[in-house]
Amino acid sequence: MKNPLKVSGLIKDFSGLRAVDGISFEIEGGEFVGLIGPNGCGKSTAFNCISGLLAPSNGQIVVFGEDATYLRPDQIQSMGITRTFQHTRLWREMTVIENLLVPPRQQFAPNPILSFLRPRSRPAERERVDKAYEILDSLEISHMAHNMSSELSGGQSKLVDIGRALMGEPQCLLLDEPVAGVAGPLAEKIFVNLRNLVSEQGMSVLVIEHNMDFILRTGVDKIIVMDHGKILMLGTPEEVMASRAVTEAYLGVTEVQAV
Ligand SMILES: Nc1ncnc2c1ncn2[C@@H]1O[C@H](COP(=O)(O)OP(=O)(O)OP(=O)(O)O)[C@@H](O)[C@H]1O
Ligand SMILES: [Mg+2]
Repeated sequence: MKNPLKVSGLIKDFSGLRAVDGISFEIEGGEFVGLIGPNGCGKSTAFNCISGLLAPSNGQIVVFGEDATYLRPDQIQSMGITRTFQHTRLWREMTVIENLLVPPRQQFAPNPILSFLRPRSRPAERERVDKAYEILDSLEISHMAHNMSSELSGGQSKLVDIGRALMGEPQCLLLDEPVAGVAGPLAEKIFVNLRNLVSEQGMSVLVIEHNMDFILRTGVDKIIVMDHGKILMLGTPEEVMASRAVTEAYLGVTEVQAV
């Protein structure tokens, strides 16, 4: 089986600004990977290129062995890659459960109203509803299933957004700061759940996170550290912690303190 994602020499320029500067990495099947780096280092831009929202200036994106460099978002999604956005995009005029039951708005889903009208068999619909509740349960927001999305806090909206992404049963999930604004203990639980999805279902997850301490505690298999559009370090959490380049440039300390 080919790896879900292979990024080679990815570059993205914005009129004079090189936001992503030749990054290369690979995500294997069933791998849980953290992508970390300071503000503006190009993490979301990398996601935008991978998910087809932005055309790369150079480089190649390969999904399950097939060139996906210039494909549209919906094509990337149909190849098994789903992404969430740093700024959540829920249907505010719908309830939480309805948000899970319509196809994702981004990656160019059809009109959600039409998808509701399209006939589906009852058992299939029942199954989808059950699955939606199960996902809400795992994210600990099933009690909010019938709340309007417009009533949710930022953190709760993030959780619904993860739920929407999981509804599509992606083989590879790209999450852009999924727990920003989510309270610490729940954020950790969500990562445990993601870890379980990876282990039990073989899904691959690439997750952008701001907080190095947090990502080191979440049990990711690998961490990609970006800085100024480049990959500063790629390795296991232990390797990243031991990396002088990371501790100097990213954590802003000159030596790892013995404890
Ligand atoms: N559409 C765009 N047009 C022009 N410049 C952009 C665009 N998108 C991002 N940039 C710039 O590219 C650089 C990288 O931005 P990006 O959003 O990828 O960073 P990030 O690592 O996700 O940061 P953060 O942690 O704040 O989310 C920044 O300087 C940003 O201002
Ligand atoms: Mg970002």
